[in-house]
Amino acid sequence: MSRPVISATGLFTPPNAISNAELVQSFNSWVDKYNAENAGDIAAGVKQPKAHSSVEFIEKASGIKARYVVDKEGVLDINRMTPNIAERPNDQISVLAEIAVNAAKQALERAGKDGSQVDAVICAASNMQRAYPAMAIEVQQAIGSQGFAFDMNVACSSATFGIQTGADFVRAGHAKTVLMVNPEICSGHLNFTDRDSHFIFGDVATAVLIEAEEVAQKDHWNILGTHLKTQFSNNIRNNFGFLNRGDPSGVGKTDKLFVQEGRKVFKEVVPMVAGMIQSEMDRLGLKATDLKRLWLHQANTGMNRLIAERVLGHEATEDESPTVLDTYANTSSAGSIIAFHKHSGDFKAGDKGLICSFGAGYSAGTVFVEKAH
Ligand code: COA
Repeated sequence: MSRPVISATGLFTPPNAISNAELVQSFNSWVDKYNAENAGDIAAGVKQPKAHSSVEFIEKASGIKARYVVDKEGVLDINRMTPNIAERPNDQISVLAEIAVNAAKQALERAGKDGSQVDAVICAASNMQRAYPAMAIEVQQAIGSQGFAFDMNVACSSATFGIQTGADFVRAGHAKTVLMVNPEICSGHLNFTDRDSHFIFGDVATAVLIEAEEVAQKDHWNILGTHLKTQFSNNIRNNFGFLNRGDPSGVGKTDKLFVQEGRKVFKEVVPMVAGMIQSEMDRLGLKATDLKRLWLHQANTGMNRLIAERVLGHEATEDESPTVLDTYANTSSAGSIIAFHKHSGDFKAGDKGLICSFGAGYSAGTVFVEKAH
């Protein structure tokens, strides 16, 4: 049986960033316009006035200071409040596949591999470009790989579920080199007119190459263990689907976009994830002191601080639990992979860490890794 390892990661960051100040200015202008347009109904008590958002609240509640987006203009346009991403003809690569390929090429280059050496492509993300054909098959074609490819969706936990799936293919002998990509254009599922959540998400793509140890470069990460968990919850939801297409502009159909009970998520997910990490550490015979770093899902600084504290037994330093929330915001499945990609270059042979995701479903996944050389 081959031993699966992580041989490289890749990251694609869109060129446009939106600061909290820019986002709040646009949101507040939209609110003023809404309140003016609905002044009669508001005065008659038929509609509630909308309240302004604030930079201070966003930073304090989430740790987010900015986010990257594929289209800045459409998001900030108060007559639109949603990204303007043109539909592409069928003979062009889709935008989600394109950003996935950008991240994939970097991972392949870092691993010294060519696309033709990839046996399987998994596209693991919160939102798919369309029902079919799979984005993963577009990526497969774009990198020139043979073999098989498919999409999977476990919301914010898609990447860890994808890593375990890829590792299982290697263990079972179905593939030696698996490319797992996470294109997340979260601005597409975000309701930019919802004060409670308009600031949460950003766009990005990440890639992870999972390989059999015998074909991987020397400079890789051993996978010590993976564990996945799901538990049904309505507290994070997006009802968009092929049976209820809703308003194509997205504005006004709030349940066809991201909605959450943020407080409940916070309260329920923190103990679930901390407990899951603890029991997986017990199973693998690992102590908190064995872990140099936690690359946690980037949802919210408060959740990350509490989870890290429960796992480590003390408040985590930025070095022990780095955040990318300030610049990237929540990028769904890609968050923990961005943290790993950007904050793992200092690891030496034998250093251990944890990639951990959590999100809608609920779903959570742990991948304990050790630097091999
Ligand atoms: N600007 C200013 N004030 C705002 C605001 C905004 N954009 N959004 C909400 N508020 C106000 C609320 O109206 C409320 O006011 P009140 O106390 O007068 O009623 C107050 O701020 C607190 O709102 P609340 O929604 O309770 O904030 P919170 O402290 O729970 O933070 C989240 C909100 C979403 C940041 C937080 O609950 C969270 O991070 N939860 C985890 C969920 C998560 O990360 N999910 C992603 C998937 S894993």
